[in-house]
Amino acid sequence: MLLFGGDYNPEQWPEEVWTEDVALMRQAGVNIATVGVFAWSDLEPEPGRYEFDWLDRVLDLLHEGGIKVALATPTASPPPWFTLAHPEALPVTADGIRLSHGSRDTYCVSSPAYRAAARAVAGRLAERYAHHPALAMWHVHNEYGTDCRCDVTAAAFRLWLQKRHGDLGTLNEAWTTSFWSQRYSDWAQIAPPRATQYMPNPAHVLDFRRFLSDELLDGFIEQRDLLRAANPAVPVTTNFVQGGWVSVDHARWAEEVDVVAVDHYPDDAGPGAEEQTAFAADLARGWGGGSWLLMETGPNLIYTRGRMHAKEPGRLTRHSLGYVARGSSGAMYFQWRQPRGGAELFHSALVPHAGPDTPVFREAVALGRTLRTLSPKAADAPPPAASVAVTWDAPSWWALQGPGLPAADIDYLAAVRQAHRALYRAKLQADFVFPGVSTALGDYRMIVVPQLYLVSDEAAAAFRDYVAAGGTLVVTYLSGIAEPDTRIRLGGYPGAFREILGVRVVEWHPQAPGTVITLEDGLAGATASAGLAASSGSVAFSGSVASAGLTAERWIERVETAGAATISRYADGPMAGAPAITRNRYGAGSAWYVSAGLTDDSLQALLRQVAAEAGAEPVLPGLPSEVEAVRRGDLLFLFNHGDQPATVDRVTLPPGGVRIRSADGVEGPPVGRG
Ligand code: GLA
Repeated sequence: MLLFGGDYNPEQWPEEVWTEDVALMRQAGVNIATVGVFAWSDLEPEPGRYEFDWLDRVLDLLHEGGIKVALATPTASPPPWFTLAHPEALPVTADGIRLSHGSRDTYCVSSPAYRAAARAVAGRLAERYAHHPALAMWHVHNEYGTDCRCDVTAAAFRLWLQKRHGDLGTLNEAWTTSFWSQRYSDWAQIAPPRATQYMPNPAHVLDFRRFLSDELLDGFIEQRDLLRAANPAVPVTTNFVQGGWVSVDHARWAEEVDVVAVDHYPDDAGPGAEEQTAFAADLARGWGGGSWLLMETGPNLIYTRGRMHAKEPGRLTRHSLGYVARGSSGAMYFQWRQPRGGAELFHSALVPHAGPDTPVFREAVALGRTLRTLSPKAADAPPPAASVAVTWDAPSWWALQGPGLPAADIDYLAAVRQAHRALYRAKLQADFVFPGVSTALGDYRMIVVPQLYLVSDEAAAAFRDYVAAGGTLVVTYLSGIAEPDTRIRLGGYPGAFREILGVRVVEWHPQAPGTVITLEDGLAGATASAGLAASSGSVAFSGSVASAGLTAERWIERVETAGAATISRYADGPMAGAPAITRNRYGAGSAWYVSAGLTDDSLQALLRQVAAEAGAEPVLPGLPSEVEAVRRGDLLFLFNHGDQPATVDRVTLPPGGVRIRSADGVEGPPVGRG
């Protein structure tokens, strides 16, 4: 059964509204509600005094309505009494400011008092509800990620560092502490990175982020274990955040949850939202090893550039089915009913302030029907199979957010999204691989490696084996630069990939925003019609890239080839005439190096061509540009994201429409606009 539902906060409403809620949920075909995420102060109004009666009634009501429950532990938002009694458990910022109560997430995960209170409330919930017939899963906490730099955190950080580095000598070496006289002679001298005079040490900053991710994970595991012990049959999860806030290393966390559950809010009001949806879903599927669940997304409004944007009719459906097509076991939202007050009082909901007689609720009802029809085929269908993959690595992102970098506008997330977007526009189904967590790189035809800044020796070896065995690797600038502790790999960039790529980069030339650099093909001008490059040291490179030329922004480099063939040279700018894009034959495979910050169109043209050479096939040949096609098992999902009707295989998709086909015909009602 595909799950359909979302966050439900009955504690914000009088009981008569609960009855209406359940009736409306039934009308919409909602089959799961996430309950209790922020209900700590209602569940435990005073220390040790629990009030479960209201929750009993909610769960029973939902159960009678045939609606399952993802029951949350409320530990993301400690009640006022807790923070008053334990001011030491309030988080401290890098500036040394102890935050006050008044929002949510006011806790320090290293605080023993907080951990004990969290275990206590989670334990009581487990005791009472672990065998409730409505319980489908546990939803621990909410979007783990609170940062704290207090002294208790400092002590925990030191213990973590002792485990990671063993002795101080090793830490001093890994952190290069002889730079600026930072050599530590006692563990007690080490604190979390705090406001300091000038730039902090990047290795210190990065280790703290790793520590925080692990420390938060310990907090999760503690709750998970006691919930599991109460009833091992009930899966335990927590909602991972997708987007610009990378609080934890999800690829590592994924190993500890029973279901990878993800919150995703596209932040582009235009077609970028569809591309972000595909990106988020493909990444989540990677974390989940194939299976995952969309736990929260906005039913209606998209936050974008300081403004809320109402989704056009049909877009809720397209996005929701987009996640399902890409492997989600359902579509869940934040939230069921729009609140009357509180900080998120205008956040969208399936039942908005205006009530159920609204476009969003009507669309939800229709979507519920579609999901029900789809359930028998989609719920257990295998996830989309991809022939290409993109690398993802949270520590590389953290390192590229660190101090001392060669350009202030380096943006790891943007680079990975750009690579994925290029594949998406080329209609290639992509997976993600996580070389920082697992050296298993699969048997993809092509792997794109955008800005994989930190690479271990083991990961470097895995990439070598992958290419040697016949794989095609496309590595972009800022990859392979440092070891996992941020120590630079010497001898020329991109250190970890130099041998496979057959190049040596000796200088970086970051460019001011707005500067556009042109790249020539291998034989500028002369080969556009023949599609062949013939100058010495260059190789044939046919098709659109050669004839259209390429452009780059923000980043160029001085590249020397050391075995690689030059595919494209810089045509202007400080590197004019020097290699820009190269290809190296390595074993049975090829390794491409992209030294420039290619624009979207250029990267797309390049990856399209490399993928074709590597034998990676689009999901369907000849798709119109506005149409997205995804195969999940036997089902083919076709999405028309454009404003005009589009025809695919004699099926006409209305503007904004979705068609789902299986071997034995069209599944479910056609979904169109309005
Ligand atoms: C996430 C959180 C919710 C809410 C929404 C707002 O999904 O889990 O509590 O804050 O974001 O977009």
